[in-house]
Amino acid sequence: ERHLISAADLTRDDAVLVLDTAEELARLADRPIKKLPTLRGRTVVNLFFEDSTRTRISFEAAAKRLSADVINFSAKGSSVSKGESLKDTALTLEAMGADAVVIRHHDSGAPHRLATSGWIGGSVVNAGDGTHEHPTQALLDAFTLRRRLGTGRGGDLGGRRVTIVGDILHSRVARSNVHLLSTLGAEVTLVAPPTLVPVGVHAWPCEVSYDLDAVLPTSDAVMMLRVQRERMNAAYFPTEREYARRYGLDGGRMARMPEHALVMHPGPMNRGMEITADVADSDRCTAVEQVTNGVSTRMAVLYLLLGGAALGGAPGHAAEN
Ligand code: CP
Repeated sequence: ERHLISAADLTRDDAVLVLDTAEELARLADRPIKKLPTLRGRTVVNLFFEDSTRTRISFEAAAKRLSADVINFSAKGSSVSKGESLKDTALTLEAMGADAVVIRHHDSGAPHRLATSGWIGGSVVNAGDGTHEHPTQALLDAFTLRRRLGTGRGGDLGGRRVTIVGDILHSRVARSNVHLLSTLGAEVTLVAPPTLVPVGVHAWPCEVSYDLDAVLPTSDAVMMLRVQRERMNAAYFPTEREYARRYGLDGGRMARMPEHALVMHPGPMNRGMEITADVADSDRCTAVEQVTNGVSTRMAVLYLLLGGAALGGAPGHAAEN
């Protein structure tokens, strides 16, 4: 079967195929008739064990725009709260005929387990697992970068400089973006307090800096990450005021960026912590545009996987942490 577990599994050609398909679908779906008949008769299950606004809603919108039937499953209010296992939940969904399962889970590696277990026969799409990966977020971010900054050779992001700032330690968005953007030829720099940089980061295809002001003037895009207080050991974390002073993006810092440079944020935002309200609401911030782009990107992923495309070959890597 065909799955999307990890951005690290995607080749450059896979990624460009998804992004080009997303552009095509965005054009088609932008006409007065928004629905395409492509996935009529297929069933997409949204299996969410962790909270989500953007990802869950945009997968639902993407599947519906392709005319698929959508089943939304949220662990809250389900028999998971009575102790039902991932296996028995998956077998229940399989019995209802899922062609694709979009899974968000607090455990790194849960989508990989689902894809390799044999419990379900359909495609598995990782919608965010623990601190591991969030591959469709990286794809929609790459889509946004291509639209705003133009493409490099053969549709990639060759030569673009992307700076990712903040809570790298807990960020599946950062990990997926480092892999995908570097595969697409971008130069990625991570900026974070030393306590929020993962062990092993020096094996990642990126640079690491502790000085945000030094990298802003050469960045084509600056991606601010949410500080994940719910995953945080208090000992790791500077005070909120100290964090905002050293690693937050405010108007003064934004003025150090080149005029064409974008401010990105995957959402949800902590306004006043990693980003000030005036920057979040400025014309240069693409946070809302990223959400719009997420629908066509996820349409492309569902369209390609359910159409039988192999993205990255074998099911994804197991979680690395
Ligand atoms: N960016 C993102 O994954 O947002 P949600 O948690 O709201 O889905």
